[in-house]
Amino acid sequence: MPEPEVITNVCAMREVVQAKRALGKTIGVVPTMGALHAGHLSLVEKSIEKCDVTVVTIFVNPTQFNEKGDFDRYPQDLNKDLSTLAPLRVDYVFAPTTDSIYPPEDCLTIDVGRLGRILEGRFRPGHFAGVATVLLKLFHIIPADTAFFGEKDYQQLKVTERLVRDSHLPIRIEACPTIREEDGLAMSSRNRFLPEGARENAQSIYLGLQHAQCMVDSGETETEKIIQKLRQQIQTSGGSIEYVAIVDPETLEPVQTIRQAVVALVAIRIDSLRLIDNLLLQPKM
Ligand code: PAF
Repeated sequence: MPEPEVITNVCAMREVVQAKRALGKTIGVVPTMGALHAGHLSLVEKSIEKCDVTVVTIFVNPTQFNEKGDFDRYPQDLNKDLSTLAPLRVDYVFAPTTDSIYPPEDCLTIDVGRLGRILEGRFRPGHFAGVATVLLKLFHIIPADTAFFGEKDYQQLKVTERLVRDSHLPIRIEACPTIREEDGLAMSSRNRFLPEGARENAQSIYLGLQHAQCMVDSGETETEKIIQKLRQQIQTSGGSIEYVAIVDPETLEPVQTIRQAVVALVAIRIDSLRLIDNLLLQPKM
């Protein structure tokens, strides 16, 4: 498989994409922070399947880290990421420097309002402003037709959809299903930091979410009861629960009675590691 061309320069990246567009090619972009795993590869495969040209961005965005320690230890190894991508037909990897994305005295911060302050936003203040700001920049540099995002980061997906809608960017956001390890743990670049022995406990998150779907299947409509059960099950993870919520899939506002599909969202902390997961709960119609 031909190696992807690695581009670090903002203008060069934009010119390449514009030239491809001028030839009538469709462009898919997969924004990442590197430390690539099978979850990312599934997004890349989707882009290759649906678009003529695929660009993977690898940029560890400092503005979305609300804890310095988390930023400092975030795995960064471009060569390893390039080998992970090697079996796929990726055309370009965009790996800019921090200064080129955030020039000195950069004045841009995107506030995504309440959607960025609830749930994850309560525990990671400023996180979604950082995500929205970098994505707006990346979407300007890479005027793609479609950008591919995983449902694992459900709130990030919704923030991105709103960002694109409200800034009138002509880019389609495609949501791709969460990829899980064999034991059900949602894949994440941070899973490698799971403390010894915590792995088995972490499985209780997905088991709890599946049980929540079983409760809905057997006719339970009161979200409070489902949340209580879910909390009980997740307690066994040995981590501390940050939130368990059942929300409207678009607004992410809490739902009391399930009449249509809702999303159950969970965040726990095990030592300094946060794990998040979610499941769409579908009532039988
Ligand atoms: O999900 C991620 O890896 C990051 O939040 C993203 C979307 C690449 C923005 O930095």
